Formats: sequence, C-alpha cells, structure tokens
Amino acid sequence: MTISVSRPHAQYKSHAAAIDAAVRRVFESERYILGPELERFEADFATWCGAPHVVGVASGTDAITIALLALGIGPGDEVITVSHTAVATIAGITRSGATAVMVDIDPTTWTIDPKAAAAAVGSRTRAIVPVHLYGQPADMDAVTALARSHGLAVIEDCAQAHGATWRGQRVGSIGDAGAFSFYPTKNLGAIGDGGALTLRDQSTAARARQIREYGWDHNRVSQLCGLNSRLDELQAAILRAKLPSLNDDNSRRVAVAAQYAAALADSPLQLPCVRAGASHVWHLYVVAHAERELLREHLAARGIAAGVHYPRPAHRHPAWANARTNELPHTDRAANEVLSLPIYPELSQHDLDIVIAAVRSYFVESQ
Ligand SMILES: Cc1ncc(COP(=O)(O)O)c(C=O)c1O
Repeated sequence: MTISVSRPHAQYKSHAAAIDAAVRRVFESERYILGPELERFEADFATWCGAPHVVGVASGTDAITIALLALGIGPGDEVITVSHTAVATIAGITRSGATAVMVDIDPTTWTIDPKAAAAAVGSRTRAIVPVHLYGQPADMDAVTALARSHGLAVIEDCAQAHGATWRGQRVGSIGDAGAFSFYPTKNLGAIGDGGALTLRDQSTAARARQIREYGWDHNRVSQLCGLNSRLDELQAAILRAKLPSLNDDNSRRVAVAAQYAAALADSPLQLPCVRAGASHVWHLYVVAHAERELLREHLAARGIAAGVHYPRPAHRHPAWANARTNELPHTDRAANEVLSLPIYPELSQHDLDIVIAAVRSYFVESQ
C-alpha cells in the first residue's frame, strides 16, 4: 500500500462515530442550508480561533473573495500576496475584481518576504494577503506594521494553518479577516468542500453574510450583487463533530514533525524552520533539495507518494501571465526544490519509520 502525503479517509475512520451521528442528525432535521448546525459551528469556531465573527462559506477560495468584497476591495484595487501558494489564493483575489500583485518569499520559511511586500506597495494597493503556508504563520509583526503604515487591510490566508499561533494569538484573529478552507485534507477537513472567514468587525461580518447569499437583506432584497456561497448543514455538522479533536490532531502532527526533524537533521535536506514567535501546525512537512525529482522517484519506488506544493508558481500559470510581478528567485527555487513528506494525525509509527529510512537511504545510495 502507498504511504501518501495525507489521508482524509483515516480522519473519517478516527471520527466515524461522531461524524455518522452528525450526518444522521442533519438528514432528520429537515434543515439543510443556513440552519442551526452552521450557527453553532460558526460560534464554536469563533471561540476556538479567538475571532469575534465567523461566516461559513462554500470554500476557502470564496472566503478570500468574500473577505475582500466585504472590506470594500474590488476592481481597480491591488492586493499584495505571494506567488508561492495554492493558486486558490490568487483565484480568490482575482474573483473579487482586484488585481493580485505577487511578491517573493523568505527562503527559509517560504512565507511572504515583508521587504518585497513593502517594495510592491503603490497608489492602488488596498490590502495584503499573507499566506500561513504549510501551517507556519507569516511574519505578522512585519505584515501588520506595513499594513498600518499604508492603511492597508490584512486578510490572512489560513487555509493551511488552523490553530497555528503568532505570539500566542491564533491565526485568523490577527488581521482584519482570515480565510479558512475545510477541504478534506486540511487540518480541519470536511467531507466535501467548505470554508469560513473570520472577521474583526461586526458590520463587515454582516456584509459578508449578505454577499454569501445573493446580497440579500433580511427581506430577501438584494442590496448588492452577491454570490451563492454557503457552508451547508451537513458539512457544518461534520466540522462541529471534528473541532473538539483538532488540538489533539495538531499535536500529533507536531510530534510527527519533531521525529522528521530529529531523524533528518544530519541529511543534506533543507528542513523546515519555525520562525521565532510562531507555532507551526504542520499541515505539510516540506523539505527542499536540488535533486528533488530524483528523491521523489526514489521514494515512489518504495511505495511513498511524496507531494510537491507547488511545482509551478502562480505567476507562471497562463491565467496570471500578465500579472505585475518582478523576478521572484526564491519562489522559482522553491518550486523546483520543495518536497512534501507524509504527515497526518493517523500516520502510524511503522509508516513514519519507513519514510524516514527511505529518505535517509537516498543520500546513502547517491553518495
Ligand atoms: C493556501 C491556500 N489558500 C486557499 C485555499 C483554497 O481553499 P479551497 O480549496 O477550500 O477553495 C487553499 C486550499 O487548497 C490553500 O491551500
């Protein structure tokens, strides 16, 4: 059997009783959209993140779009972010009508380089979207200071970082808004698509609620042109069932990461480094090496399906070929060198040992 990077089915198995009960409750409830399950999940998740308001939406991509629209950002505006991310970050920005301006990353943490972000600020810049990539918070001191000095909104892309902290504060509660994905492989994953935004301000949250449902007010009159982007009752109930285990699941990821770090410390790999002030929740355990493809083949031959997040920087996709960017050398290098090793809460010690031995054997055999 292949050892994969993530395994949502194992998540289902370890939460099966709670998930099955939640699903049955919704089936019998006669309320499938915007009902009590969503209301309770929004309240539970707000408490868990330490954010004043949570709005459940259909995906993490939509969460970014709706956060920008609710903050009044759209056509004619520029939003600074990274190219080394899931293309979803850029798609979410582009769908708001704003223009994504992609900057380089810091080569040791693979998150936004605040100096590059500062250099990209122009007269049309309205917001910055730091991505807490792989589970590691971006440098939020620098991002927040930059945003303050130019009057920019901060929308944290938290899709990979549920529960990560920056100076003790959970991501999603630091900026003006946070965008979460509940795609099944995420640290908190649904059994289908789902997302949420966290918001600091009540009136922005009210606008986000309008936008997620056709721009409706309480009388179902469209006050603005909204979307249809609702987190349905089934997914909300499943997420509520899993949320109480998220701290333990994240702790298990931390333990797996610690074993990789200890076992690979003397290897030629660039290992992930945790920035001072941050706690990392290890959505992915990403290493880097110039011979990434050879190492990947070596692992595949031993039944290990390592991943690459991401092989093509967003600005090198045809969809964003005309984006305003400078050269992004650290981004290009990461795209060529990063490799994601298996990590998920249910990863067995047996499989982890196999992965570690296989990685180590590559360097012994290639010497
Ligand atoms: C960094 C990042 N941002 C945004 C998203 C978008 O989430 P979704 O797939 O739920 O739209 C993802 C998930 O793929 C992601 O990894």
